[in-house]
Parts: sequence; C-alpha cells; structure tokens
Amino acid sequence: MDHVRLSKTGDSVVILDQSLLPLEEKYIELTTLEEMVEAIKRLQVRGAPAIGIFAGYALAALSKQQCRPKAISSCCGASGTSDEGFIQILKDQGSILKGARPTAVNLSWAVDRVVNAVRVEMFRARQEDPLRLNANAGARRLAEAAAREAEKIHEEDREMCRAIAGYGLEEIQRVCREQSHEGPIGILTHCNAGPLATSEYGTALGPVILGNEQGVEFRVFADETRPLLQGARLTTYELQKAGVDVTLICDNMAATVMKKGLVQAVFVGCDRVAANGDTANKIGTSAAAILAKHYGIPFYVLGPSSSIDMECATGDDIPIEERDPDEIRSKYYEKPMAPEGVRCFNPSFDVTDAEMITGIITEKGIFRYPYSESLTAFSK
Ligand code: MRU
Repeated sequence: MDHVRLSKTGDSVVILDQSLLPLEEKYIELTTLEEMVEAIKRLQVRGAPAIGIFAGYALAALSKQQCRPKAISSCCGASGTSDEGFIQILKDQGSILKGARPTAVNLSWAVDRVVNAVRVEMFRARQEDPLRLNANAGARRLAEAAAREAEKIHEEDREMCRAIAGYGLEEIQRVCREQSHEGPIGILTHCNAGPLATSEYGTALGPVILGNEQGVEFRVFADETRPLLQGARLTTYELQKAGVDVTLICDNMAATVMKKGLVQAVFVGCDRVAANGDTANKIGTSAAAILAKHYGIPFYVLGPSSSIDMECATGDDIPIEERDPDEIRSKYYEKPMAPEGVRCFNPSFDVTDAEMITGIITEKGIFRYPYSESLTAFSK
C-alpha cells in the first residue's frame, strides 16, 4: 500500500506516520493546510521525493476543498471564485507548503508542477471557448487537473526508482568485478533513502532491494543517523522487511567498517544537487564521503533528476535547515543527556563537495565528475 496517497474522497492526504516507526505502523489523514505543513515539519512524511509526492497530493486535496459550496477557511476559497482566484489560492497554499522545509528542492518542484498544470488547464478551457474569453474552467475541472498532476508525479517517482535501482545495481556489480570482490556486496548507507523516502524501491536502497530480488547478495551497514535516527528506525526496518542482511552501526563507526574492508561502496540519497555537483543530504553524509575517499571506497549519490537544481551554482547556495536543539539534547533519551540550557547547533543537512562523489546516479543515467560539465550538458 502506498505510504503517501490521496484519500478516497480526494479532499485529504493519507500518510504512514514515519515519526512513529518502527514501533507503530499508523496511517493518519491530513485535511487542513496547517496539518499538512506540520506533518512535513515533524518528519511524519520525509525524504526528498516523498515530500514532493506529498506536496502534490496536498495541493490536489486543497483544490478539491475549493470545490465545496462554502469556503472552509479564509485561505481556502469557495466555488464560484474565478479561475484566477482559484489559482491564486493554490499558489498561496503552495508557498506555505514550500516554507515547511527549505533544503529538499523536490518540495518546491512539485508545488510548481501542480500549480502550472492547473494554469495550463485554465488556458485550455479558454481556448476551447474562444468566443467567451473570460470563461472559467471552473473549480472542479481545475481540481481534477491538480489531482492528475499529483498522480503523475507519484507515477514518475516509481519509474525513477526502478531506473535508478537498475543503473546502481549495474554500477556496483562492475565495481565489484574491478575490485575482484567475491561474496556479499557490502554497502554503507546514511539516513534513509529507501521506499519510505520515495515510492517502491527508493533511491540509495534501490540497487540493494532490486539486487536482492534477483538473488544478488548484499550486506548493508546502516549508520544510525543522529539525531533523528532515520537509519536506525527506518533503513533497518525497510531492509529487514525486504529480507536484506542489515547491520546497524553508530555514525562514528563508519571508519572502522571501511578500514576493515567490509564495504565496497557508499550509497546515499540527496536533497538537492547544485549545478557543480555539490550535494546536500542528511547531516553526516559529507563525513562518510571524506572517510570513503580516505579508504579509497567509491561514494555514490542516488537521486532523481528533479533533485538537481541548476539555479544553485554551488553547495553554498543551498539553504540548510536548522532544527530544534532538543533533538540533540533530549529527544529519544529517557532523560535529557546534556546540561539544561547548553548551546546546540543542529543543522539537518550538510553539503558533500562534488570532488568527493564518484558518481551521481539518476533515472537518466550516471553523471561523473566534473559535474559542472556533465550536469550542464544534461540540462540543455
Ligand atoms: O530529514 P529527512 O529524513 O527528510 O532527510 C532525508 C535525507 O536526507 C535523504 O537522504 C534524502 O531526502 C533523500 S531520500 C531519497
């Protein structure tokens, strides 16, 4: 069952609450814009592509609400508003959603796609009715366009995951042949870039899950990923479910695993890739890349081409989210584990320098360093 989806009535979004995993598998229904924004902020839905899929459905649900005879809140409009009015409300709601988390570019990308699709539908309606230039497409037709676009984003994500899984599997098998490596393929991963962060196979975990289905043996080392423990809570949960051999380690054990020759490559996801290949991903990713370089282990970023932001020249242009210090001080501990009032610095993401990255594996193929050339050629 999809862990992010539109409700049967189409006016709310249903998600598996990831903040409760692995202890509780609970689906929750979100109806208001405020609930949707909170779900993103609290990481009840998380992972760059999943946030994009969610934002698409959120706008589809809010569009459907605009079809109701009466406005349900001051920002949600009512049937009877003009097409421009409908789109303005949708744009405003989209801006609020975009503001929920700044780093993953997929969120604003998905919002813009849905708003544009609705705008195109408005123009289509006008073209169909050239004699009445101001004719409205109407709220229902625009809401249907929003829902179609959201479904399309989701379907494309499934295809993207399958393609990335295929390219990544081929690549790691090639690397293992070059290394004359035999036996299970060791992979180190950081955070969670599996099915929960996307749809189906995931990105960083895609080659592993696909390979496992095909009888290729993998052994994954999952960094626990302080402070929110996505590796411990989500990656191990997903891999266990998929029947993949997984070992949980603390983040500071990665060097030991590498030095012992237990991993043939590092696979991570991404929240945003700049035009020069600098990549923002979960805090701690760049440390894993530096270690991998030191030990001569290939380090791959796996993500959809929608995570590449050619508007950001380098990683310095990527906004990095800072989160509540209590995530470090006390969350997941029985009692606070630091003196009261101690200053904390809690950036949620870091930027891995392009030169540390062996390849960026997307649904369009594998990009190699220097990325300013390979990514520019792709974007043209
Ligand atoms: O804060 P999170 O859990 O949303 O961070 C997620 C990551 O950093 C993932 O690696 C990234 O979004 C890629 S998911 C395919």
